[in-house]
Amino acid sequence: MALERPTDNDTEVLALARRNGWPDDLRHLIARYPREQWQGHANLGEMARFWLSRHDMFRELAGMIQEIETQFRAGALSPEQFARVFVPRLQFMLSQLDLHHQIEDFHHFPLFRAADERLARGFDVLEGDHHAIHADMEKTAETANALLRALSGDGDTLRRRGDDYADASGALIKGLIRHLDDEEDLVVPLILDRGEEALGVAHHG
Ligand SMILES: [Fe+2]
Ligand SMILES: [Fe+2]
Repeated sequence: MALERPTDNDTEVLALARRNGWPDDLRHLIARYPREQWQGHANLGEMARFWLSRHDMFRELAGMIQEIETQFRAGALSPEQFARVFVPRLQFMLSQLDLHHQIEDFHHFPLFRAADERLARGFDVLEGDHHAIHADMEKTAETANALLRALSGDGDTLRRRGDDYADASGALIKGLIRHLDDEEDLVVPLILDRGEEALGVAHHG
């Protein structure tokens, strides 16, 4: 009986926390449509521009929230000031991310998978990312609530809750940034190659 060497499990190799971009077999379109060409390309339509602007908003919000946390922990914001700027921004980011992922999972990805079966595996990986990001979002919300409850307590507890939150949100943001970059590298070249109308993702009205 032949022994089989365990093959690399694809989903594990390409897991969000481990990968560093796409492997060669998922790079056939990005190789033809490098980032420098995106903005000036005629097929970058309204849908893609709006979608890219959402990604930029998430990057910006993530940076802003991290900056607020850094300032608070450095003593530059009072607990009241911290809560006032932190809560609405984190809440907005988490709720918008949830919505954004739903649109991708249920509307965009099925159309993209159908358009190019060589990329289908990449969209499975991206959908897996959404699950990983959701787990990190939950941890971030939990640790944020614990941190907010600790604002009125003693300094030691507050520091520990701050550390817990920093760990959870740090993991969330690191994964999110990786995900946004990789998703763009898969989606935008496909849109440039086929056009939004042909893919069925064009905005109308
Ligand atoms: Fe996504
Ligand atoms: Fe996205």
